[in-house]
Amino acid sequence: MNGHCAIVTGAARGIGLATADLFHELGWRVVLVDRDSEELDFAATQRPEALALTLDISDPEQVDEMVSRTLDWAGRIDALVNNAGVAEFGPIESCDFAMWRRVMATNLDGIFLCSQACTSALKETQGSIVNISSISGLRASTLRVAYGTSKAAVIQLTKQYAAELGDFGVRVNCVAPGPVRTKLAMAVHTQEIIDAYHDAVPLNRYGTERELAEAIVFLASPNASYITGQVLAVDGGFDSTGVGLPALRAAHAARA
Ligand SMILES: NC(=O)c1ccc[n+]([C@@H]2O[C@H](COP(=O)([O-])OP(=O)(O)OC[C@H]3O[C@@H](n4cnc5c(N)ncnc54)[C@H](O)[C@@H]3O)[C@@H](O)[C@H]2O)c1
Repeated sequence: MNGHCAIVTGAARGIGLATADLFHELGWRVVLVDRDSEELDFAATQRPEALALTLDISDPEQVDEMVSRTLDWAGRIDALVNNAGVAEFGPIESCDFAMWRRVMATNLDGIFLCSQACTSALKETQGSIVNISSISGLRASTLRVAYGTSKAAVIQLTKQYAAELGDFGVRVNCVAPGPVRTKLAMAVHTQEIIDAYHDAVPLNRYGTERELAEAIVFLASPNASYITGQVLAVDGGFDSTGVGLPALRAAHAARA
C-alpha cells in the first residue's frame, strides 16, 4: 500500500492509535488527528513517519484544515477512519442539553464534517470511509441516552454515505466495537458494567485495541473491495446473543 494515505481521527491513544499503527505496518502513510495535544505529541514523538494534527473534529474550520494539510503532505486521501468519540453516561433525567450536545458534537457532527470534507479527495482515489459506532448503537442499554443514540445515528449515516458514494467507487462501512479497556471505556465502566459485559459476551472477555484495528483496516483496505454499507460488530459475540450465558457457564463449571 505504498503511497496510500489514511486519516485516523482520535488517534492519540486507544483504538485509533492501534489502527494508525496497523496502517503503518502495512505501508500506508498515516495522519494522526486528535484534540488532546499532550497525548498526541507523546504518540507522535514515537512515530516520526506520521503527520500529527492537533485539532477538534467537531469544528468545521478545523476539519477543513485537516483535509488541506493532509493533501499538502500526502497529495491524496485513500481512507478516512472516523474514530474520535466521547462517552458520557448517565440516567435520562441527568442528561442535560449541554451533555447531549457534547456527545453529538463529536460522535455525530464530527463524523458528518470529516466525511463531507474528505469526499472529493476520496472520489479521486476511489477510497473508503470506516466509521466507528458501538454495540451501544446496535442494542439499547441503561445510561446511554446520548451515547447510544449518537452511535445508532452513525450506523444510518454510514448507510446514507454508502448509498450515495457507491457510484463513485467510494466504500463506506462501520465497525461497532464491543468493550475494550481504553481510557474512554474505563472512565464509564463501573465494576457493575464490567461484570455485566463478562456475563453477556460469549467470548467472556473484553476485546483488545489490536483486534478492533484488524477489522477497521481490513474494511478500509482494497481487500474489502466489494463490501460497502455494512456494520461489523467486533464484540466477542455480544450482539448475536440473548439471555442465558451465565446459567450455561454455571452448568459447565458444575460439570468440570
Ligand atoms: N473502548 C470501548 O469499549 C469502545 C466501545 C465501543 C465503541 N468505542 C468507540 O471507539 C472509538 C475510540 O474509542 P477509545 O475507546 O479508543 O477511546 P479513547 O478515549 O481512548 O480515544 C478517543 C480519542 O478521541 C479523541 N477525541 C475525542 N473527541 C475529539 C474531537 N472532538 N476531536 C478530536 N479528537 C477527539 C480523544 O482525545 C481520544 O484521544 C470511539 O468512537 C468510541 O466511542 C469504544
